[in-house]
Amino acid sequence: MVHHVPWIYTPVRTVLAIWNQLTKTEIPELAKSSVLMRERSRVEDTIHAMQRAGAGSLQVISDFDMTLTRFAHNGRRVPTTHNILDNRLLIDEDCAKKMRELLNTYYPIEIDSSRTAEEKLPFMVEWWTEVHELLIQQGIRKDMLAQAVQESSAMLRDGYKLFFDRLTEQQVPLLIFSAGVGDVLEEVMRQHRVFYPNVHIISNYMDFDQTGVLRAFKGQLIHTFNKRDGALSHAAGLRALQGRPNVLLLGDSLGDLTMADGVSEHQNILTIGFLNDQVEERKESYVDSFDIVLVRDETMDVANAVLRCITSSRRNK
Ligand code: TMP
Ligand code: MG
Repeated sequence: MVHHVPWIYTPVRTVLAIWNQLTKTEIPELAKSSVLMRERSRVEDTIHAMQRAGAGSLQVISDFDMTLTRFAHNGRRVPTTHNILDNRLLIDEDCAKKMRELLNTYYPIEIDSSRTAEEKLPFMVEWWTEVHELLIQQGIRKDMLAQAVQESSAMLRDGYKLFFDRLTEQQVPLLIFSAGVGDVLEEVMRQHRVFYPNVHIISNYMDFDQTGVLRAFKGQLIHTFNKRDGALSHAAGLRALQGRPNVLLLGDSLGDLTMADGVSEHQNILTIGFLNDQVEERKESYVDSFDIVLVRDETMDVANAVLRCITSSRRNK
């Protein structure tokens, strides 16, 4: 019979503990009171696996409205890309009123925790289709979009500059996957001076005629709950994202979780969900679905800390 010899194990354990401390980077931001995690150890293990693989293996996929942009500021809602179009330079009062009525009808359905994504889907198609038809009737002028963005209260989340700068410095591609309006989204990015070459966008783009007047929307409609279809159909065309098996995904809707479905042969996916609204009703489903849930957190602090950790691998130095 073999007897235990603890004096052998103690030094081994100590060396392992020191090794763990040296190779792991702690993320104090995960201790913020706004952070909820179903399984903290899994989150840490995933981050460390992504860190070991380095920035060269990473891609970031993010939603735009209410994920990269703030949900609210000083108690007022920050406009989504669609809502930025609510400007008399672009649409008349009657159209604005109809869009607001549609928002009041369909947004509660979008965030309703008692309905499944499948149940919400036809309502989302109705909402987006009706809004896009209204916008087309208005004959929106392309050359007025920049001014409308300027006059709006559009705001990216606090810490956004660090986020975009870090991704650019580390040459990590960022795919922004938005059911908003692509032309408006691009203009918001441009005016915040973060529309860098590593940024790729999938969204609903306006189709203007030769005189610069809106006549249709291009391609297949993207709404909150069909991002999987878009992810699969665009995957082959996004060459910059290929060969990067680790994904950091950011979203504010459960529908955003399908944005990485086009990534073939992924190794690690870490998902961060912003829970902005209907917090008590949706908390459980968000904690079940996202790895990290941020409750009413208007900052990019946690995403920046995770990113700093993943891209601080010795391999990159
Ligand atoms: P996202 O995919 O970038 O988050 O954009 C979709 C959001 O846009 C979604 O949460 C609902 C919102 N939205 C409006 O605010 N107004 C509208 O008219 C429409 C159709 C969508
Ligand atoms: Mg969103």
